[in-house]
Amino acid sequence: MRLLISLAAIAAALMLPVAAHAADAPVQVTLDASKPGAVIDRHLFGQFAEHLGNGIYGGIWVGKESTIPNTRGIRNDVVAALKALKIPNVRWPGGCFADQYNWRRGVGPERKPAVGEPNTFGTDEFMDFAQQIGTEAYISVNLGSSTAQDASEWLEYMTSSTDSALGAERAKNGHPEPYKVPILGLGNESYDCGGPMSADFYIHEMKRFSHFVRNYNAAQPMKRVAVGHDTYTDAVMKAWKDRSWSWDIEALSLHFYATGGWPPHLPSTGFDEKDYAALVKDAIAMDDAIKTYSAIMDKYDPDKKVALAVDEWGAWLAPTPGSNPGALVQQVSQRDAVLAALSINVFARHADRVRMANIAQMINVLQAMILTDKDKMLLTPTYHVFHMYVPFQDATFVPLTFDAGTYTTNGITLPRVDAVAARDKTGKVWIAVTNLDAKSPATFSVSLAGVKATKASGQTLSAPKVDSVNTFDAPNTVVPKALSAQVVGGELTITVAPASVTVLGLE
Ligand code: AHR
Repeated sequence: MRLLISLAAIAAALMLPVAAHAADAPVQVTLDASKPGAVIDRHLFGQFAEHLGNGIYGGIWVGKESTIPNTRGIRNDVVAALKALKIPNVRWPGGCFADQYNWRRGVGPERKPAVGEPNTFGTDEFMDFAQQIGTEAYISVNLGSSTAQDASEWLEYMTSSTDSALGAERAKNGHPEPYKVPILGLGNESYDCGGPMSADFYIHEMKRFSHFVRNYNAAQPMKRVAVGHDTYTDAVMKAWKDRSWSWDIEALSLHFYATGGWPPHLPSTGFDEKDYAALVKDAIAMDDAIKTYSAIMDKYDPDKKVALAVDEWGAWLAPTPGSNPGALVQQVSQRDAVLAALSINVFARHADRVRMANIAQMINVLQAMILTDKDKMLLTPTYHVFHMYVPFQDATFVPLTFDAGTYTTNGITLPRVDAVAARDKTGKVWIAVTNLDAKSPATFSVSLAGVKATKASGQTLSAPKVDSVNTFDAPNTVVPKALSAQVVGGELTITVAPASVTVLGLE
């Protein structure tokens, strides 16, 4: 302290500029392209679409007779927006809904409504939607309230040739070609809404489903995802290590929501810097959850054959005032964009084990990409983050070293910045930087060891305030802007706005 005072005094006396405050000092980042890490699986950018609130009805499905432009009942505006995200897979039909879903009521010319579920959007409509947006199907079967026989018949309906009765029924319903089901969920939160089952009971059921619920489409291998949880993970992985020829799993799930405390109570609009920091702090605790699960998985599976699938994640906030609380409607702000980027960065750093993730949820529910209101549609700040990160899909992780520093507000301390890099299949290197500080800009000086580049260009997403949102009246309040910078002497220097996300490609 004494030294600082005397330096400042000397500087003042000599009329020299005083060194910048530590928070304003550039973050020195070193990129070492000679030490590539794991491939950042494109399936880390998966989505989740549940029959809940207006996630499906109104958000995707408007029906063939709707005045809202649609293709076979599926909204054209939503399809066009989702296509641009290159979504690798969509998890459907739930969530908790999956464990009460009767697929039979949702196929064929005569749909049979259930309570609160018209069943007009069923298997064939979901597969049509998946084909229209260019994604793969992640189907969660009903392990909670139905039988292995029923789930097996659903798979037969979807994946068998027309030689089987159910394959022929699918053809009669308009799709002679077997569908592809590359990912199959064996239950959802079976410790809770999908049961509740003890770990041992779940493992008993899961083994039967793994064995009997077969994929008949030989052109498409299928991965099975078992349920993970604090009370399940060790037991499921132990069972997997001791497995017999008759069953297997290829992934284990982890659900991780950022809430700032349960039940969800933080508002999705009109919040302050304290709530911003509280939610972001919760989100980055995902890193600890992944480390905990990975350590257990490593014990039984050191070769990392079983992937960790974070197949529900995102911000879960207080319902929008006036909305049906069960519909999980919330706005999606710049805070959530920062949260999304930080979560993706966590996945990228654990890409050797975490090979699938699904944000909850795609449209109109929780941390959505898209909000709709009748014929209107808007893209949320989280949509823009997913769009900016497209180059990271299937790119190879490139390690960065930097001191993230700290940002403290209202007694909450967070890292000041975050950054990840990856090399895509064409050899181009991409850098994503996040400034968590809600008040101060951040400057990054990136030294590019082993990369020949003269400039970097891409997009940056910032907002007037951390709680800025896009609305149907003002849909472009938070949109990415172009950003480019020169590389001088092997160093890239960029300054980014407070609470912002930036993705740049080196050229
Ligand atoms: O995404 C909303 C719900 O959260 C899902 O249905 C359930 O799996 C989780 O508890």
